[in-house]
Amino acid sequence: MAHNPDTNAVTAGRDGSQPLATPLWATTVWSSEGLDDTASRASSLRAPNYYGRHANPTVSQFENAIADLEGAESAMAFGSGMGAIASIVLAFCNSGSHIVAQNTLYGGTLAFLEGPCRRLGIDVTYVDPSVPGAFSAAIQLGRTMLILAETPSNPRLSICNLTELGAIKGPFTVVDSTLATPLSQRPLDHGINLVMHSATKGIGGHNDAMLGVVAGEKDLIDALWAYGVLHGATASPYDALNGLRGIRTLPVRLRQQSSSALKIANVLQEHPAVSSVMYPHLASHPQYALAKEQMGNGGSLVSFEIHGGLDAIREMFNKLKLVHAATSFGGAETLICHPLTSTHVGLPAEMLATMGVTMGLIRLSVGLEHPDDIIAELTTALSHH
Ligand SMILES: Cc1ncc(COP(=O)(O)O)c(C=O)c1O
Repeated sequence: MAHNPDTNAVTAGRDGSQPLATPLWATTVWSSEGLDDTASRASSLRAPNYYGRHANPTVSQFENAIADLEGAESAMAFGSGMGAIASIVLAFCNSGSHIVAQNTLYGGTLAFLEGPCRRLGIDVTYVDPSVPGAFSAAIQLGRTMLILAETPSNPRLSICNLTELGAIKGPFTVVDSTLATPLSQRPLDHGINLVMHSATKGIGGHNDAMLGVVAGEKDLIDALWAYGVLHGATASPYDALNGLRGIRTLPVRLRQQSSSALKIANVLQEHPAVSSVMYPHLASHPQYALAKEQMGNGGSLVSFEIHGGLDAIREMFNKLKLVHAATSFGGAETLICHPLTSTHVGLPAEMLATMGVTMGLIRLSVGLEHPDDIIAELTTALSHH
């Protein structure tokens, strides 16, 4: 019987015979029955009892849980979101390949595309995801291997149309769905080939797991595994355990964070020190209708711009006590960051301008504190501008 997503988060990845709390398999290696048995494990795909870089039962349960939540045949975990992104690109591209990427992406992803990819002769064309048909118009037949999107995007929360992207055939379509989590949207349902997450964020949810994950059809995930086992961005079983614990409470946390984030976005919008506010489920968001259609929750991130440049931002950050200045997001604590000098530091000025990563832009990750306390803290910190 099909259950609601809240129930799926509690049941995902389990099989009936397992203990309720997932055991931690803190081993890197398993002993075999002899030479032939070792040889058979060594040449098996994702052998569960051979060597930790090939598979680990704790990590596998996390992978199975994500596959369940995303409606995927299979999933593979990595040691970080960047480990997942780098492995996807290097598994499916060669020198001379071409990638079509959204022009508004997490800074680390952009740095990877601009650095190692360019160095290896993998070309990238950036497109504006809000322009209908922009992704398919940039495809170079026979050369484009991947189409890379991130929705909502970090940090300006722009939305890419999943149905339009999912209709593209030929290159593999990849969606970084980190900001939405598997509970707010399911890109595979729209025909996307691979969905990925930095599970370090909302999925883990407690700032204690460095973890990435990719889900999709079994054949694609198996091909990714065959590369990933050599790339070595292996997920740790400790972090996978924390990721699994995060999954169990994700719906409750996400609902609370989304409700608080919308309240905070509405208050910020009225504040005289604030010049603009971005939040997917805020009526003033330029893609509000699309965000309401494809995202069940608005998510935990709110971005806003304030008047007064870097001095004003520094002054505001210095007044914060409850809200921490830190770069991650999706956890229990409310965090604030200045993307230009942190998550997107060092990227070319032209790229930052296209993305709207301005001097005055601030990204807020709304935690699980009472929204009134967060609002009081922010409005006080902004009061002298
Ligand atoms: C949208 C997005 N994708 C990928 C990553 C990279 O994830 P990780 O830090 O787990 O490597 C991040 C990190 O902030 C992110 O925001």
